[in-house]
Amino acid sequence: MSELERVRREMDKLLRTPGARPDPAMRITRRIFLHRSLLTGGAVGAATFGWFPLINTIDIAYAAEPPFKFAWISDTHLYPKSVNTRFVDKTIRAAKDVQEMNPPADFLIFGGDIAQLGAVEELDLGNEILKEVKIRKVFIPGEHDWYYDMGAKWRQLFEKPNWSFDHKGVRFIGLDTISRAPDYWTAKKMSPAERMGHMATLDGTVAGPWAGVGADQLAWLHNTLSDWDKARPIVIFSHNPLYEYYPPWNFWVRDWRDVQSVLAPYTNVTNIHGHVHQVLYNEIGHMRSIGQLATSWPWPYAPQGVPALTKTMIRVDPGDPFDGVGWGKLTMNQKDRVDTEYVMWGRKQVFAQSAEDSSLSHAEILHPRIADNMWPY
Ligand SMILES: [Fe+2]
Ligand SMILES: [Fe+2]
Repeated sequence: MSELERVRREMDKLLRTPGARPDPAMRITRRIFLHRSLLTGGAVGAATFGWFPLINTIDIAYAAEPPFKFAWISDTHLYPKSVNTRFVDKTIRAAKDVQEMNPPADFLIFGGDIAQLGAVEELDLGNEILKEVKIRKVFIPGEHDWYYDMGAKWRQLFEKPNWSFDHKGVRFIGLDTISRAPDYWTAKKMSPAERMGHMATLDGTVAGPWAGVGADQLAWLHNTLSDWDKARPIVIFSHNPLYEYYPPWNFWVRDWRDVQSVLAPYTNVTNIHGHVHQVLYNEIGHMRSIGQLATSWPWPYAPQGVPALTKTMIRVDPGDPFDGVGWGKLTMNQKDRVDTEYVMWGRKQVFAQSAEDSSLSHAEILHPRIADNMWPY
């Protein structure tokens, strides 16, 4: 039996425990809310759909902890204002929305890709806009922030790319899934701009499988969790999803098996990620993964690998720059539950609906489907 086959079988045994599913103590349900706030009366019918902003809500329930909420913004992909203000406008809008949350969020997580081409001017611009958000802010990097100067400016502004803190009974962890790309640039004598250009391409045939956590950070993750009760809630923020969704677009981390292995003993793990620019939901073993919207643009769903538990967004209106984009709001309510809402600004029609998720438990992506045919692990 090959080493790869052995690892596959081990992972399968570990993760495909009969009946394994995310701990019901942290249940998630999704609901559709249709807000009629802008509807001023008159006939209600197909023609009035345009007045219904739509929010998709996920509830996460914790036991006996005080209520709190936090917000997610990511993938603003800012160009300098002299080039393009469309993305700037949407970032300003998201920052304003978060600042206006009432009651305020406990903190904002910015999930990476603040810049488009890693330029100092772009990163400074994002930092300036987000200064309008006065609550605590934490940041993880995206590939667009990093590969012009290998993270120098990002680190200057936002410091450590991975971190952890405890907040009201939850251990929050920020992971850096972008900085460990295999060096494809030195041998080809690429300039920083050329290197960044390849990273900025969705179909990264030159950049290859750049997304990964890395052995050093996995060891850090292992240590960081070692004093945490296995049943207590853990929320992990990462730019890329922590499973194999679609490697050709780096909708994964290449060492996802190791990540799953480190997390396997913990029964209350939620991974919230960016990079995919779309509504996405999956469960693997005890872990659930929730993809967040970008403020910049929505990516299409990958040609294969979309998790069965994901109810996909409908196609966006290409004439409406506010369609299919937005930010995320996670609210713990009076019953110690957190509502995570996709705040999708321009949505005109129902896009997604899901039944209560945990009971479905279609832990499905346990075998490498694409990656091992393309890149040896
Ligand atoms: Fe992005
Ligand atoms: Fe990204």
